[in-house]
Amino acid sequence: MMVNIVTIDGPSGVGKGTVSLKIAKHLSWNILDSGALYRILALIAKRHQVSLEDEIKLVELATELDIKFIPEADLSKLKIIYAGQDITTEIRNETYATMASQIAVKSTVRKALLARQRAFHVLPGLVADGRDMGTVVFPETKNKFFLTASCEERALRRYKQLNNIGIYVKLSELAVEIASRDKRDSTRTIAPLVAATDAVTIDTTELSIEEVVERILNKLVF
Ligand code: DC
Repeated sequence: MMVNIVTIDGPSGVGKGTVSLKIAKHLSWNILDSGALYRILALIAKRHQVSLEDEIKLVELATELDIKFIPEADLSKLKIIYAGQDITTEIRNETYATMASQIAVKSTVRKALLARQRAFHVLPGLVADGRDMGTVVFPETKNKFFLTASCEERALRRYKQLNNIGIYVKLSELAVEIASRDKRDSTRTIAPLVAATDAVTIDTTELSIEEVVERILNKLVF
């Protein structure tokens, strides 16, 4: 079975989520927000008072996660349901972003989430966003993109995004958190945040969402 995949990797706040939803909508394909899996695991670990150092328990939780990703009818948003509860907004808290980045350095946890991510790879196709979609999870795809933007621009984008869903943070603190997460994500030994050698890198600092989407759509090969 030949199923097309588009991978969109890049650092925090670069706009991968929004761009991925628009590409998925344009192609009428499925979508995988892999960062949400790490965030959900962080949230569940916190709820169960599991230490981020307890790899055995984290792997257990990762294996058992009862989650559903439900795209809105117009694909403008992904609803995330854990054990019947809507946690879409809760996992966007910076606390879970930081915890997710800490959990994500653990190879056993990454391995436990691998099959779950690959299960999204079904007809008619998949748009997958994250850090290692093109390098580790779906290395076979020809459609790999790596988005970048200046730190200032990414902090501002994430700031606006959080504001829109009622999460209020200080821009200066957000910028520091994002920089520290990106450093951890890009320097870890397992599946670091890095562009695949065959990825198309797009600096989005000066580009609108629509311009990024257009550039990606123009480069797709089927
Ligand atoms: O995309 P995001 O901001 O929701 O991701 C949160 C954290 O999850 C990110 O800082 C690192 C981790 N992550 C990862 O290691 N690999 C992925 N494919 C996606 C996210």
